[in-house]
Parts: sequence; structure tokens; C-alpha cells
Amino acid sequence: MNKLIIWAAALGIATAMSASSESFAATARCQLNDGTRVVCPVRTDAELEAAGAAYEAEAHQMSSGESGSTYGVAPFDYLTGVGKRNEGTTLTKGDSGYGGKGGKTELWDRVKKPSDGESVYNQWTNNWSPSFSTTMVPGADPNEGKQWYYVYCITCHGWGLRGDGPSAAEIDPRPRVLTKGDYMNNKSNLQLFSVIKGGGEAVNLSSSMPAWGNFLQDQDIWNVVAWLRMMADAKVPTTIEEYLNPKTTFKPIDGDVDALTAAKDEDFQDAQEMNELSLAGRGKGELKGGGYVEGGLRKKPGEVADKVKKGY
Ligand code: HEC
Repeated sequence: MNKLIIWAAALGIATAMSASSESFAATARCQLNDGTRVVCPVRTDAELEAAGAAYEAEAHQMSSGESGSTYGVAPFDYLTGVGKRNEGTTLTKGDSGYGGKGGKTELWDRVKKPSDGESVYNQWTNNWSPSFSTTMVPGADPNEGKQWYYVYCITCHGWGLRGDGPSAAEIDPRPRVLTKGDYMNNKSNLQLFSVIKGGGEAVNLSSSMPAWGNFLQDQDIWNVVAWLRMMADAKVPTTIEEYLNPKTTFKPIDGDVDALTAAKDEDFQDAQEMNELSLAGRGKGELKGGGYVEGGLRKKPGEVADKVKKGY
């Protein structure tokens, strides 16, 4: 119980701070595992303005029928052009993805078509995302995590996890760049899990980072953590191969909790209390939130571990 009181006091201070400070940009308010304070990895106002303008332009192209995919309807990275289709498809005017004659550039057009052409193209256009054959978080599947990321996180953190989603410019403190390895690789799985499940408030950050524990089951959140781990220092792709196989700099941290060990990990269980308290309609010490729920594509941690062992 003592722990909860300390947490509550810390939250009070955080609220008072956010009410009084005008901008968070240059403050060293981000903390690494060893306690070092650093300036949070966020994009500059100018970068976010450019990203916002690009998004507006794409939305306009969509509504005027010049180009097909939009951020919301058929997502693509409006900065790199990944996932956007135009010439060379069988699409006709009015179809999602139709770019018209002389349509806008896309990565597909900018790079050479690989020799195994169609299958890669299909994977690219159907998934619009890299596909991994391994995981950095035991019991968690990055391929499933990325799907949730695309549903819930891109508006703020951006399609490429670079802190430049269409809403980013309006949010202060800014949504963070989630690919910055020297920052993210210093965060434990427990920290990432907690901020995603309980939102900023659960870890003494701003409530501008929403709590996702009412939408995502614990296993989903582990999968999202696995996806974030795969994207540490992933480069903006310039070839399809780079796009499909981003290289991560993340190395698992010794003794860190993961999806397989969470149930028996004391720190994790303590953190869960705080996570649950920040979720609407929960609290009073009842940990209802996170168990495995059957349905859809969801898999148990053990099944994910088996899948990884077999090489997917
Ligand atoms: C409404 C905008 C918004 C959405 C949507 C959003 N975030 Fe955030 N996120 C933020 C902001 C703002 C921060 C930084 C908070 C701060 O600086 O106090 C943040 C911080 C984070 C951090 C903390 C990194 C660190 O420094 O410890 C992680 C991880 C994160 N978000 C992941 C996600 C994931 C995963 C999703 C989707 C499930 C998501 N976010 C959706 C706004 C958002």
C-alpha cells in the first residue's frame, strides 16, 4: 500500500508541473534505466509542421481522386510513401490505391523492383509493414504487435514510429520518437509495458499518452512491446528489402521481465496495480484487465514462444 501512496504523491506533482510549465521541449525530463535525465526524443516543430502539411496534401489528393491510399483508409507512410500505389496496378479510378496516370511518387516507383517481384509487392501492399521471423521479447510476437500499433498509435507516434503522426503537432509534451535506440534500448520491458497499459499517468509522464489497457489485453501489449523492440534505430527504408527487414539495435536486458515470466514477477505484479488504477472502471485492487482472452488472432505467450522456436 505504501507504494501506492508514493505513486499518488508523484502523480500530484506531475499534474502540478504540467499545469505550470508552458513547453516541455527542452527540459531533461526523460529518464533512463540508471536514472540519468535526458531531453525526451521528440520531433521539432518544423518537422511536425512539414509532416502535417504532407498529411494534408495526401488527404487532399485522396478527396480529389488524384491518389488512393490515405492515412486513415488504407494507411501508408506519408513521409516515405511506403504503401502508396499508383501506376502499374490494375486499379481504376475510384478504387482505393488508384493513383492515376502520372500519379504521385511512391517507394515502389523509386526503387528497383526486386527479382521476386510480385510476392514482395503483395506482401508490401497487403501488409504495408515489415514482417519478422524472430522476437526480442520471449512469448511476444512483433507481427501481431505492429497491427495494434497501426490501429492505436500512429496518429501520434507516426507510421514509422518517428513521433510525427498527424496529431503530434497539437500535443505537448510531444509524442516520443519510439525508434531512438540509445533512449528506447535503455527502457526495461516493464517500463514500456506500464506506459502502454496504464498510460503516461501510470509512470509519472503526461496523460497525453493515453492508457490502452481498456482496449488491449496484456498479451496484445506484450506484442506491441516486441514490435517496438524490433524498430530500434530502424532506418527510413530506401529499398524494399530494408523496408521488409528493418535491423534493430535492441539487445534484451538481463533479468528483464517478459511475456513468459510476467505472471511470476513481483515488480510486474506491483506495477500492474498502478496500471489498473489508471484505467476507467477499474481499481479497488481488482486486477481484471490483463488476462489472456481467446478470440481473433490472439495467441497465448506459450504458443508464441513455440511459434518462434519453430521459426514461425
Ligand atoms: C494521443 C497521442 C498518443 C497516442 C495515440 C499514443 N501515444 Fe504514446 N505517447 C504520447 C505522448 C505525448 C508521450 C510522451 C508523454 C510525456 O512526454 O510525458 C508518449 C509516450 C509514449 C511512450 C513512452 C516512451 C518513454 O519515454 O518511456 C511509449 C512507449 C509510447 N508512448 C507508446 C505508445 C503506443 C504503443 C501507443 C499505441 C498503443 C501510443 N503510444 C499511443 C502520445 C500518444
